[in-house]
Amino acid sequence: MAIGVFDSGVGGLTVHRELTQRFPERDFIYLADQANAPYGGRGGEDIVELTRAGCQRLAEAGASVIVLACNTASAIALRRLQQTWAPEMRKTLGRPFNVLGIIVPTIEAATGLPWSYEAERRGDKVEAIDITGVFCTAATAISRVYEIEIDKRREDIAVFSEPCPGLAGLIELGATAEELKVVVDEHVDALRRRIGRHPDKAILGCTHYQIVAPLFAAALPAGVELIHQPSAVADALERYFQHHPEYDLGSTARRDFLTTGTPGPQSDLVAQFWGAPLTFQPA
Ligand code: DGL
Repeated sequence: MAIGVFDSGVGGLTVHRELTQRFPERDFIYLADQANAPYGGRGGEDIVELTRAGCQRLAEAGASVIVLACNTASAIALRRLQQTWAPEMRKTLGRPFNVLGIIVPTIEAATGLPWSYEAERRGDKVEAIDITGVFCTAATAISRVYEIEIDKRREDIAVFSEPCPGLAGLIELGATAEELKVVVDEHVDALRRRIGRHPDKAILGCTHYQIVAPLFAAALPAGVELIHQPSAVADALERYFQHHPEYDLGSTARRDFLTTGTPGPQSDLVAQFWGAPLTFQPA
């Protein structure tokens, strides 16, 4: 059995890398749904169905816990899969099985509060003193998940999402640093103009963007803290496994990389991020 990591494409590698560093002896199966990437401009039902199909494939390959290393899938599909599909799957597989997302840990890191904490509203208006910017896909921005869930917990944080349509697709295609810099700079500036200043903190709310995190860091002023989603997810998963020893996560350090798209070596951009060439096998 193994930990499954799912994304529309190469973005989830940013989470996968952190998880394998945290749980080095565990078995991992990565699945990139590159035949259908990017997800960010798709409709809700489409995203749910594609995510379900990807999780099904990972479950069949031996995943007992699947991490949706994709903000879009976590925002749009996770709840449906947890409520309706995963319970059925547990029965069919006859073993412990679950699907987890990456937005809850990121909001915990952004608010400094556990998910179970919800602000007790006393009615008095609190001035938002800190601004958090969220760079994300159109689907994640439309869901307003970051605005809604952070506001429930921290009235003193104002959240502004900046959808970056096209950016995940460019990263998926292995665009050059020069091409990517133009797009990242444009979005950082668009957010600054909308807020009237730069945010105090920023979330790269699409795992693909973590691959070009240095470009975001360079475009934002030096003092802006970038919340690191991969380590927030690894922290949360460590706590989850402490409370759920029932999962068989394997112990042979197996690393499988599968794609629904064209198998073979991934782009130079990915190799640069990964630190070595990376090849995907057919799913
Ligand atoms: N990496 C994904 C995310 O975190 C999806 C990007 C896309 O497919 O549009 O949102």
